[in-house]
Amino acid sequence: MPSNEAKPAVKRALGTCYYPEHWPEELWPDDAKRMRAAGISHVRIGEFAWAQLEPASGKLSFDWLDRAIDVLASQDLKIVMGTPTATPPRWMLDKHPDMLALDAEGRPRKFGSRRHYCFSHEGYLQESRRITELMGERYGSDPRIVAWQIDNEYGCHDTTLSYSMAAQSRFRSWLAQKYQSPDALNRAWGNVFWSMDYAEFDEVDLPNMTVTEPNPAHVLAFRRFASDEVVRFNAVMARALRKWTDAPLLHNYMGRVLEFDHFAMGADLDIASWDSYPLGFLMDRIDCDAETRAHYMRQGHPDFQAFHHDLYRTVGQGRWWVMEQQPGPVNWAPWNPAPLPGMVRLWSWEAFAHGAEVVSYFRWRQPPFAQEQMHTALLRTDNCDAAALDEVKKVARDIETMPEAGTAKANVAIIFDYVSQWAWEIQPQGQDFDYFNLVFSAYSALRRAGLSIDILPSDTQDLSNYKLVLVPGLMTLGDDLKAAISAFDGQVILGPRFNTRNADFRIPQKLPPDCDLIDTQIVTTETLPPGAAIAAQGDGSVIRWWEHLQGGAPVQIATPDGQAILVGDRIKYLAGWPDDALWDRLLATALSDAGIYRLQLPKGLRVRDTATHRFIFNYGADVARFEGRAIEAGDFIHEPLTTKE
Ligand code: GAL
Repeated sequence: MPSNEAKPAVKRALGTCYYPEHWPEELWPDDAKRMRAAGISHVRIGEFAWAQLEPASGKLSFDWLDRAIDVLASQDLKIVMGTPTATPPRWMLDKHPDMLALDAEGRPRKFGSRRHYCFSHEGYLQESRRITELMGERYGSDPRIVAWQIDNEYGCHDTTLSYSMAAQSRFRSWLAQKYQSPDALNRAWGNVFWSMDYAEFDEVDLPNMTVTEPNPAHVLAFRRFASDEVVRFNAVMARALRKWTDAPLLHNYMGRVLEFDHFAMGADLDIASWDSYPLGFLMDRIDCDAETRAHYMRQGHPDFQAFHHDLYRTVGQGRWWVMEQQPGPVNWAPWNPAPLPGMVRLWSWEAFAHGAEVVSYFRWRQPPFAQEQMHTALLRTDNCDAAALDEVKKVARDIETMPEAGTAKANVAIIFDYVSQWAWEIQPQGQDFDYFNLVFSAYSALRRAGLSIDILPSDTQDLSNYKLVLVPGLMTLGDDLKAAISAFDGQVILGPRFNTRNADFRIPQKLPPDCDLIDTQIVTTETLPPGAAIAAQGDGSVIRWWEHLQGGAPVQIATPDGQAILVGDRIKYLAGWPDDALWDRLLATALSDAGIYRLQLPKGLRVRDTATHRFIFNYGADVARFEGRAIEAGDFIHEPLTTKE
């Protein structure tokens, strides 16, 4: 279902993440009162409390959680119950000594923090199902529990891949089911190369610790398998809960965690949520230069949050929340600046403008102990209000005047595909070719043009709601998307690196893009080192990746000596990785061909439309002027949509 179909508007709400087990019970009533007074209505609890719920194997202790729920609910707070499987207690290791994941060097990822488990370990899966079901049985029909969060941030801290014996054995079964015979696997992977043929599935190892690079087909199969394992783990927990509850199930995804297919997991859940740490992400996981990082250090990257809002809106099939919103400096990035005054409110409203139902702040009170003692919260360690609490109160007051979240109809869509991410990680060809960055560069260019965007999976069947669709870097064009593009009458930009491998990592017999959609073929591919650029005639350049094309599609943008960069008519093929200037230029033409109005936004300003309003956010470090209005740094404006847009 395209995510831009009209949805009934839902009421916006605020939440916080609370750990009653961290605090003396006498504090709970006051905490609950202060949450309510701040305008918070939702509170997530429980997600790391396994050792408190089951201090020894089979010895259950739920009374404290019963009492915490009573206290919170006495202030009309709605509970989001977390299941605690991200933090197996120490006794679990005595019961299941081989449950730890192994890293690519075969070393165990030990007890002492969190997420120390292997998704393929059957014993741990059953323990997780057991505790999840015990919680479901106890609280599943309690109307005070309005939603359930399963586990916490799957894949975070590089925890999707495990090279354990359990993973190896399940990988072999997965291969046997997929390929049916070792011969079929050998043919599909091209194992005739370097004498790599297998006689039995049980001969296939995990693709780590090989002398030089393993076969990319082998690695991709392992990556698909590893993703399926995470999806399976979650599906088992979802089934366990659904026996006991009708409340919606969700998971809190992370930013730029790409090792498992979130669309596949989203199909088993009712709501997607994600954890938004704009400043942590800018310092930790966005590839940008030092100047950009310094400029946005108190605001965050102007497009990174929006990208994930749009991605997870689709993963949640239209229903999504921010489960953890950064409130101040975090502790985990290489540097941890404080947000500009106003930014916490701006981030919250940006999420609401993208259709979030709930924005929930991490966390209620800063802990004076353990790993996150330097992580700020809504309250300080001395129990006084921290800076963010005033902004939260302001958002709560804002919501009273604008209570409903209606999703905008986007005119533009980008296809995002997890398998392509894994494929091009396995075979970057140039060391800075990164699929996420390619898609993100296209997304940012669309945002610079003031657009609201939908992000869609690669098996999308219907594009008819859109006017422009971008498909950068898609490894394999499937039948569904091919049919959707063929039936679509809007503007399309395919490439670069589009449909260049089949699902088993083989170059198609007919040269790519081999899709009957456009008359062009990639005859040579080259990658370029940093600093090298192929100038386009006019403005902009190709960087990092360039394909030499041959064929009858008319050339739209070329190098000064006439080599094609962009070819085609309504359906175009882009043969390289554009720098920002080239993106802006080629999108300006595509948008005007598509009949989409493009804004001329000053640096740092970003726009998002809801069904009824236009929001303009200032991510810049200084006041910005736009169409006669001045918007302070860290601030935003909103106004009813006019027909011009
Ligand atoms: C998230 C996680 C939380 C907390 C937070 C700190 O990734 O879900 O439990 O660790 O980061 O920023």
